[in-house]
Amino acid sequence: MSKVEYKKEIAVPIIDLVSHYEALKDEIDAAVNDVLSSANYILGPNVTAFEQDLAKYLSCKNVIGCANGTDAIVLALKALGIGAGDEVITVSHSYFATSEAVALVGAEPVFVDIVESDFNIDVSKIEKAITKKTKCIIPVHLYGQSCEIEEVVKIANNHGLYVIEDCAQAIGAKYNGKMVGTFGNIGTTSFYPTKNLGCFGDGGALFTNDSALAEKIRLLRMHGSPKRYVHDIVGFNSRLDEIQAAILRIKLKHLDRWNQARKDTGDYFSSCLSGIEEIVIPSIKPNCTHIFHQYTIRTKSRDKLQEELKKKKIDTLIYYPIPIHKQKAFSYLKGRNYNLSVTERICNEILSLPMYPELDREKKDYICENIKSFFHNK
Ligand SMILES: Cc1ncc(COP(=O)(O)O)c(C=O)c1O
Repeated sequence: MSKVEYKKEIAVPIIDLVSHYEALKDEIDAAVNDVLSSANYILGPNVTAFEQDLAKYLSCKNVIGCANGTDAIVLALKALGIGAGDEVITVSHSYFATSEAVALVGAEPVFVDIVESDFNIDVSKIEKAITKKTKCIIPVHLYGQSCEIEEVVKIANNHGLYVIEDCAQAIGAKYNGKMVGTFGNIGTTSFYPTKNLGCFGDGGALFTNDSALAEKIRLLRMHGSPKRYVHDIVGFNSRLDEIQAAILRIKLKHLDRWNQARKDTGDYFSSCLSGIEEIVIPSIKPNCTHIFHQYTIRTKSRDKLQEELKKKKIDTLIYYPIPIHKQKAFSYLKGRNYNLSVTERICNEILSLPMYPELDREKKDYICENIKSFFHNK
Protein backbone atom coordinates (compact mmCIF):
# COMPACT_ATOMS: atom_id res chain seq x y z
CA MET A 1 0.00 0.00 0.00
CA SER A 2 1.45 3.40 -0.91
CA LYS A 3 1.78 6.11 1.69
CA VAL A 4 -1.25 8.36 1.61
CA GLU A 5 -0.99 12.09 2.08
CA TYR A 6 -4.41 13.59 2.55
CA LYS A 7 -3.71 17.28 2.99
CA LYS A 8 -7.17 18.77 3.01
CA GLU A 9 -8.92 18.59 6.37
CA ILE A 10 -12.66 18.02 6.35
CA ALA A 11 -14.97 17.50 9.32
CA VAL A 12 -17.12 14.40 9.00
CA PRO A 13 -19.93 14.04 11.54
CA ILE A 14 -21.30 10.58 12.31
CA ILE A 15 -24.63 11.70 10.83
CA ASP A 16 -25.90 14.93 9.22
CA LEU A 17 -29.53 15.53 10.14
CA VAL A 18 -29.48 19.15 8.98
CA SER A 19 -28.74 18.26 5.33
CA HIS A 20 -31.30 15.50 5.63
CA TYR A 21 -33.98 17.99 6.69
CA GLU A 22 -32.97 20.70 4.24
CA ALA A 23 -33.42 18.40 1.24
CA LEU A 24 -37.14 18.11 2.06
CA LYS A 25 -37.59 21.33 4.03
CA ASP A 26 -40.40 22.95 2.00
CA GLU A 27 -42.53 19.81 1.90
CA ILE A 28 -41.99 19.03 5.58
CA ASP A 29 -42.60 22.61 6.75
CA ALA A 30 -45.88 22.73 4.78
CA ALA A 31 -47.04 19.38 6.25
CA VAL A 32 -46.17 20.47 9.80
CA ASN A 33 -47.98 23.80 9.30
CA ASP A 34 -51.06 21.95 8.05
CA VAL A 35 -51.13 19.88 11.23
CA LEU A 36 -50.61 22.98 13.40
CA SER A 37 -53.56 24.75 11.83
CA SER A 38 -55.76 21.63 11.86
CA ALA A 39 -55.64 21.51 15.68
CA ASN A 40 -55.88 17.72 15.31
CA TYR A 41 -52.71 16.60 17.06
CA ILE A 42 -53.26 13.08 18.38
CA LEU A 43 -54.34 9.96 16.43
CA GLY A 44 -55.71 11.95 13.50
CA PRO A 45 -55.68 11.47 9.71
CA ASN A 46 -51.89 11.57 9.33
CA VAL A 47 -51.36 8.67 11.75
CA THR A 48 -54.03 6.60 9.97
CA ALA A 49 -52.59 7.42 6.53
CA PHE A 50 -49.02 6.74 7.62
CA GLU A 51 -50.01 3.41 9.15
CA GLN A 52 -51.63 2.46 5.83
CA ASP A 53 -48.65 3.67 3.78
CA LEU A 54 -46.20 1.73 5.93
CA ALA A 55 -48.39 -1.40 5.86
CA LYS A 56 -48.37 -1.22 2.05
CA TYR A 57 -44.60 -0.65 1.97
CA LEU A 58 -43.99 -3.67 4.21
CA SER A 59 -46.68 -5.83 2.57
CA CYS A 60 -48.10 -6.37 6.05
CA LYS A 61 -51.78 -6.26 7.05
CA ASN A 62 -51.51 -4.00 10.07
CA VAL A 63 -49.25 -1.21 11.25
CA ILE A 64 -49.86 0.53 14.57
CA GLY A 65 -47.96 3.73 15.39
CA CYS A 66 -46.79 4.34 18.94
CA ALA A 67 -44.63 6.72 20.98
CA ASN A 68 -41.18 5.15 20.43
CA GLY A 69 -39.35 1.93 19.61
CA THR A 70 -39.02 0.87 23.24
CA ASP A 71 -42.77 1.17 23.80
CA ALA A 72 -43.31 -0.80 20.59
CA ILE A 73 -41.53 -3.80 22.16
CA VAL A 74 -43.34 -3.31 25.49
CA LEU A 75 -46.71 -3.16 23.68
CA ALA A 76 -45.82 -6.26 21.64
CA LEU A 77 -44.89 -8.23 24.78
CA LYS A 78 -48.04 -7.07 26.59
CA ALA A 79 -50.24 -7.94 23.61
CA LEU A 80 -48.77 -11.46 23.61
CA GLY A 81 -49.50 -11.80 27.33
CA ILE A 82 -45.86 -11.98 28.38
CA GLY A 83 -45.04 -10.86 31.93
CA ALA A 84 -43.82 -11.90 35.36
CA GLY A 85 -42.33 -15.41 35.52
CA ASP A 86 -41.73 -15.59 31.75
CA GLU A 87 -38.38 -15.71 29.97
CA VAL A 88 -37.61 -14.02 26.68
CA ILE A 89 -34.60 -15.01 24.59
CA THR A 90 -32.72 -12.13 23.02
CA VAL A 91 -29.20 -10.76 22.42
CA SER A 92 -26.87 -8.81 24.65
CA HIS A 93 -25.29 -6.98 21.70
CA SER A 94 -28.06 -4.47 20.97
CA TYR A 95 -29.32 -1.17 22.21
CA PHE A 96 -30.36 -1.49 25.86
CA ALA A 97 -34.04 -0.90 25.01
CA THR A 98 -34.57 -4.40 23.61
CA SER A 99 -33.97 -6.07 26.97
CA GLU A 100 -35.26 -3.13 28.98
CA ALA A 101 -38.68 -3.68 27.39
CA VAL A 102 -38.60 -7.32 28.53
CA ALA A 103 -37.79 -6.25 32.09
CA LEU A 104 -40.46 -3.52 31.98
CA VAL A 105 -43.21 -6.12 31.52
CA GLY A 106 -41.77 -8.12 34.43
CA ALA A 107 -40.22 -10.90 32.33
CA GLU A 108 -36.55 -11.94 32.31
CA PRO A 109 -34.25 -11.46 29.33
CA VAL A 110 -32.15 -14.55 28.57
CA PHE A 111 -29.15 -13.74 26.42
CA VAL A 112 -27.86 -15.82 23.53
CA ASP A 113 -24.56 -15.10 21.80
CA ILE A 114 -24.24 -13.61 18.33
CA VAL A 115 -22.32 -14.63 15.21
CA GLU A 116 -19.48 -12.28 14.40
CA SER A 117 -20.11 -12.28 10.65
CA ASP A 118 -23.42 -10.39 10.86
CA PHE A 119 -23.52 -9.39 14.58
CA ASN A 120 -26.93 -11.08 14.93
CA ILE A 121 -28.33 -13.88 17.11
CA ASP A 122 -26.55 -17.22 16.77
CA VAL A 123 -29.46 -19.49 15.89
CA SER A 124 -27.45 -22.59 16.77
CA LYS A 125 -27.45 -21.44 20.43
CA ILE A 126 -31.16 -20.69 20.81
CA GLU A 127 -32.50 -24.16 21.63
CA LYS A 128 -30.06 -24.59 24.52
CA ALA A 129 -31.48 -21.43 26.11
CA ILE A 130 -35.12 -22.57 25.97
CA THR A 131 -36.70 -23.57 29.30
CA LYS A 132 -40.25 -24.23 30.47
CA LYS A 133 -40.53 -20.52 31.19
CA THR A 134 -39.53 -19.34 27.73
CA LYS A 135 -42.37 -17.58 25.92
CA CYS A 136 -40.78 -15.53 23.20
CA ILE A 137 -37.66 -14.81 21.12
CA ILE A 138 -36.72 -11.24 20.24
CA PRO A 139 -34.08 -11.23 17.53
CA VAL A 140 -32.64 -7.83 16.59
CA HIS A 141 -31.79 -7.12 12.95
CA LEU A 142 -28.72 -5.17 13.95
CA TYR A 143 -26.97 -2.47 11.88
CA GLY A 144 -29.45 -2.93 9.01
CA GLN A 145 -29.08 -6.61 8.13
CA SER A 146 -31.52 -9.38 8.91
CA CYS A 147 -30.65 -12.16 11.32
CA GLU A 148 -31.35 -15.73 10.18
CA ILE A 149 -35.01 -14.96 10.76
CA GLU A 150 -36.54 -17.98 9.00
CA GLU A 151 -34.45 -20.23 11.25
CA VAL A 152 -35.56 -18.27 14.34
CA VAL A 153 -39.23 -18.63 13.36
CA LYS A 154 -38.76 -22.36 12.71
CA ILE A 155 -37.26 -22.89 16.18
CA ALA A 156 -40.02 -20.78 17.76
CA ASN A 157 -42.75 -22.78 16.00
CA ASN A 158 -41.18 -26.08 17.09
CA HIS A 159 -41.26 -24.95 20.71
CA GLY A 160 -44.55 -23.01 20.73
CA LEU A 161 -42.83 -19.62 21.22
CA TYR A 162 -43.67 -16.16 19.91
CA VAL A 163 -41.26 -14.07 17.82
CA ILE A 164 -41.01 -10.29 18.07
CA GLU A 165 -38.57 -8.85 15.51
CA ASP A 166 -36.79 -5.71 16.67
CA CYS A 167 -36.42 -3.82 13.37
CA ALA A 168 -35.38 -0.46 14.84
CA GLN A 169 -32.20 -0.53 12.73
CA ALA A 170 -33.51 -2.41 9.71
CA ILE A 171 -36.64 -0.84 8.28
CA GLY A 172 -36.73 -1.69 4.57
CA ALA A 173 -34.17 -4.51 4.86
CA LYS A 174 -35.17 -7.81 3.26
CA TYR A 175 -34.50 -11.48 3.91
CA ASN A 176 -35.15 -13.80 0.97
CA GLY A 177 -36.99 -10.93 -0.73
CA LYS A 178 -39.39 -10.33 2.16
CA MET A 179 -39.37 -7.31 4.49
CA VAL A 180 -37.96 -7.88 7.96
CA GLY A 181 -40.59 -7.44 10.64
CA THR A 182 -43.12 -9.59 8.77
CA PHE A 183 -41.73 -13.05 9.62
CA GLY A 184 -42.55 -13.28 13.31
CA ASN A 185 -45.77 -12.57 15.21
CA ILE A 186 -44.96 -8.88 15.56
CA GLY A 187 -42.29 -6.55 14.16
CA THR A 188 -41.34 -3.36 15.97
CA THR A 189 -39.43 -0.27 14.93
CA SER A 190 -38.22 3.11 16.14
CA PHE A 191 -38.45 6.42 14.30
CA TYR A 192 -35.78 8.03 16.48
CA PRO A 193 -34.27 10.85 14.37
CA THR A 194 -31.05 8.98 13.52
CA LYS A 195 -32.82 5.86 12.23
CA ASN A 196 -32.99 5.14 8.48
CA LEU A 197 -36.61 6.31 8.68
CA GLY A 198 -36.53 8.87 11.48
CA CYS A 199 -38.99 11.54 12.56
CA PHE A 200 -38.23 14.86 14.27
CA GLY A 201 -38.77 13.63 17.79
CA ASP A 202 -39.72 10.24 19.18
CA GLY A 203 -41.88 7.71 17.37
CA GLY A 204 -42.29 3.99 16.85
CA ALA A 205 -44.52 1.36 15.27
CA LEU A 206 -45.55 -2.28 15.37
CA PHE A 207 -46.39 -4.48 12.38
CA THR A 208 -48.42 -7.68 12.38
CA ASN A 209 -50.42 -9.82 9.97
CA ASP A 210 -52.56 -10.99 12.89
CA SER A 211 -55.53 -8.60 12.92
CA ALA A 212 -56.80 -9.69 16.35
CA LEU A 213 -53.37 -8.93 17.78
CA ALA A 214 -53.36 -5.57 15.99
CA GLU A 215 -56.67 -4.67 17.65
CA LYS A 216 -55.24 -5.53 21.05
CA ILE A 217 -52.17 -3.37 20.38
CA ARG A 218 -54.43 -0.48 19.34
CA LEU A 219 -56.27 -0.80 22.64
CA LEU A 220 -53.04 -1.04 24.63
CA ARG A 221 -51.48 2.09 23.10
CA MET A 222 -54.54 4.15 24.09
CA HIS A 223 -55.34 3.37 27.75
CA GLY A 224 -57.15 0.15 26.75
CA SER A 225 -59.90 2.34 25.37
CA PRO A 226 -62.05 1.30 22.37
CA LYS A 227 -64.01 4.56 22.63
CA ARG A 228 -63.86 7.71 24.70
CA TYR A 229 -64.06 7.10 28.47
CA VAL A 230 -64.53 3.35 28.03
CA HIS A 231 -61.55 1.22 29.17
CA ASP A 232 -61.62 -2.52 28.49
CA ILE A 233 -58.09 -3.26 29.69
CA VAL A 234 -55.31 -1.41 31.49
CA GLY A 235 -53.07 0.01 28.80
CA PHE A 236 -50.59 2.80 28.13
CA ASN A 237 -50.46 6.26 26.71
CA SER A 238 -48.17 5.48 23.75
CA ARG A 239 -49.26 7.24 20.59
CA LEU A 240 -47.46 8.51 17.51
CA ASP A 241 -48.43 12.16 17.19
CA GLU A 242 -49.83 13.82 14.08
CA ILE A 243 -46.83 16.07 13.41
CA GLN A 244 -44.43 13.09 13.43
CA ALA A 245 -46.81 11.02 11.28
CA ALA A 246 -47.11 13.86 8.73
CA ILE A 247 -43.30 14.04 8.51
CA LEU A 248 -42.96 10.25 8.29
CA ARG A 249 -45.46 10.08 5.42
CA ILE A 250 -43.20 12.36 3.40
CA LYS A 251 -39.99 10.62 4.42
CA LEU A 252 -41.30 7.10 3.75
CA LYS A 253 -41.47 7.95 0.02
CA HIS A 254 -37.69 8.44 0.04
CA LEU A 255 -36.72 5.48 2.24
CA ASP A 256 -35.71 3.09 -0.54
CA ARG A 257 -33.59 5.79 -2.22
CA TRP A 258 -31.87 6.60 1.08
CA ASN A 259 -31.32 2.94 1.88
CA GLN A 260 -29.79 2.47 -1.57
CA ALA A 261 -27.47 5.46 -1.00
CA ARG A 262 -26.35 3.89 2.30
CA LYS A 263 -25.80 0.57 0.54
CA ASP A 264 -23.73 2.32 -2.16
CA THR A 265 -21.66 4.00 0.56
CA GLY A 266 -21.21 0.65 2.31
CA ASP A 267 -20.03 -0.93 -0.96
CA TYR A 268 -17.67 2.00 -1.53
CA PHE A 269 -16.16 1.72 1.96
CA SER A 270 -15.78 -2.03 1.50
CA SER A 271 -14.03 -1.70 -1.84
CA CYS A 272 -11.60 0.87 -0.37
CA LEU A 273 -10.93 -0.95 2.91
CA SER A 274 -10.98 -4.59 1.87
CA GLY A 275 -7.21 -4.67 1.27
CA ILE A 276 -6.36 -3.76 4.85
CA GLU A 277 -5.52 -6.98 6.67
CA GLU A 278 -6.11 -5.56 10.16
CA ILE A 279 -9.75 -4.72 9.37
CA VAL A 280 -12.77 -6.99 9.04
CA ILE A 281 -15.32 -5.25 6.83
CA PRO A 282 -19.07 -5.98 7.20
CA SER A 283 -20.25 -9.01 5.27
CA ILE A 284 -23.50 -8.96 3.33
CA LYS A 285 -25.31 -12.28 3.26
CA PRO A 286 -26.39 -13.27 -0.28
CA ASN A 287 -30.09 -13.60 0.66
CA CYS A 288 -30.21 -10.23 2.45
CA THR A 289 -30.52 -6.60 1.47
CA HIS A 290 -28.37 -4.75 3.98
CA ILE A 291 -29.59 -1.18 4.54
CA PHE A 292 -26.49 -0.09 6.47
CA HIS A 293 -27.98 1.68 9.44
CA GLN A 294 -24.39 1.35 10.58
CA TYR A 295 -21.24 0.46 8.67
CA THR A 296 -19.34 -1.36 11.40
CA ILE A 297 -15.81 -2.61 10.98
CA ARG A 298 -13.83 -4.76 13.40
CA THR A 299 -10.18 -4.23 14.25
CA LYS A 300 -7.90 -5.07 17.15
CA SER A 301 -6.55 -1.49 16.93
CA ARG A 302 -10.02 -0.02 17.42
CA ASP A 303 -9.23 2.51 20.19
CA LYS A 304 -6.11 3.88 18.49
CA LEU A 305 -7.87 4.09 15.15
CA GLN A 306 -10.80 5.95 16.71
CA GLU A 307 -8.42 8.37 18.40
CA GLU A 308 -6.54 9.01 15.17
CA LEU A 309 -9.75 9.59 13.19
CA LYS A 310 -10.95 11.98 15.88
CA LYS A 311 -7.78 14.03 15.39
CA LYS A 312 -8.73 14.24 11.72
CA LYS A 313 -12.24 15.41 12.69
CA ILE A 314 -13.87 12.16 11.61
CA ASP A 315 -16.54 11.08 14.09
CA THR A 316 -16.96 7.37 14.76
CA LEU A 317 -19.02 5.48 17.32
CA ILE A 318 -18.83 2.27 19.29
CA TYR A 319 -22.26 0.65 18.94
CA TYR A 320 -22.21 -0.77 21.72
CA PRO A 321 -19.28 -0.63 24.14
CA ILE A 322 -20.86 -2.55 27.06
CA PRO A 323 -22.95 -5.67 26.44
CA ILE A 324 -26.40 -5.51 28.02
CA HIS A 325 -25.75 -8.42 30.41
CA LYS A 326 -22.82 -6.40 31.85
CA GLN A 327 -24.89 -3.28 32.51
CA LYS A 328 -25.45 -2.36 36.15
CA ALA A 329 -29.21 -2.29 35.54
CA PHE A 330 -29.11 -6.05 34.91
CA SER A 331 -26.73 -6.96 37.72
CA TYR A 332 -29.67 -8.81 39.29
CA LEU A 333 -29.33 -11.43 36.52
CA LYS A 334 -25.82 -12.39 37.66
CA GLY A 335 -26.84 -15.89 38.71
CA ARG A 336 -27.12 -16.88 35.06
CA ASN A 337 -24.19 -18.66 33.53
CA TYR A 338 -24.06 -17.09 30.09
CA ASN A 339 -21.57 -18.05 27.40
CA LEU A 340 -21.42 -14.84 25.41
CA SER A 341 -17.82 -14.97 24.24
CA VAL A 342 -18.41 -13.42 20.81
CA THR A 343 -20.51 -10.61 22.30
CA GLU A 344 -17.86 -9.89 24.92
CA ARG A 345 -15.00 -9.95 22.43
CA ILE A 346 -16.42 -7.90 19.57
CA CYS A 347 -17.43 -4.95 21.76
CA ASN A 348 -13.69 -4.25 22.01
CA GLU A 349 -13.21 -4.42 18.24
CA ILE A 350 -16.20 -2.71 16.65
CA LEU A 351 -16.21 0.78 15.18
CA SER A 352 -19.03 2.38 13.20
CA LEU A 353 -18.03 4.88 10.52
CA PRO A 354 -20.08 7.92 9.50
CA MET A 355 -23.08 6.70 7.52
CA TYR A 356 -25.94 8.72 6.05
CA PRO A 357 -27.47 9.11 2.59
CA GLU A 358 -25.98 12.59 2.09
CA LEU A 359 -22.38 11.50 2.72
CA ASP A 360 -20.54 12.77 -0.36
CA ARG A 361 -17.64 11.26 -2.29
CA GLU A 362 -15.10 13.71 -0.87
CA LYS A 363 -15.98 12.75 2.71
CA LYS A 364 -16.03 9.04 1.92
CA ASP A 365 -12.57 9.32 0.37
CA TYR A 366 -11.33 11.37 3.32
CA ILE A 367 -12.51 8.66 5.74
CA CYS A 368 -11.00 5.81 3.71
CA GLU A 369 -7.70 7.57 3.08
CA ASN A 370 -7.25 8.33 6.75
CA ILE A 371 -8.00 4.75 7.74
CA LYS A 372 -5.53 3.47 5.13
CA SER A 373 -2.97 5.98 6.31
CA PHE A 374 -3.39 4.88 9.95
CA PHE A 375 -2.68 1.22 9.16
CA HIS A 376 0.09 2.10 6.72
CA ASN A 377 1.96 4.17 9.31
CA LYS A 378 1.26 1.92 12.29
C1 LIG B 1 -32.20 -2.12 18.27
C2 LIG B 1 -33.04 -1.06 18.94
N1 LIG B 1 -34.13 -1.43 19.63
C3 LIG B 1 -34.92 -0.54 20.24
C4 LIG B 1 -34.63 0.81 20.20
C5 LIG B 1 -35.49 1.77 20.97
O1 LIG B 1 -36.09 2.76 20.18
P1 LIG B 1 -36.49 4.16 20.83
O2 LIG B 1 -35.26 4.92 21.08
O3 LIG B 1 -37.36 4.79 19.77
O4 LIG B 1 -37.27 3.88 22.06
C6 LIG B 1 -33.52 1.24 19.47
C7 LIG B 1 -33.20 2.67 19.39
O5 LIG B 1 -32.11 3.14 19.51
C8 LIG B 1 -32.69 0.28 18.83
O6 LIG B 1 -31.60 0.64 18.15
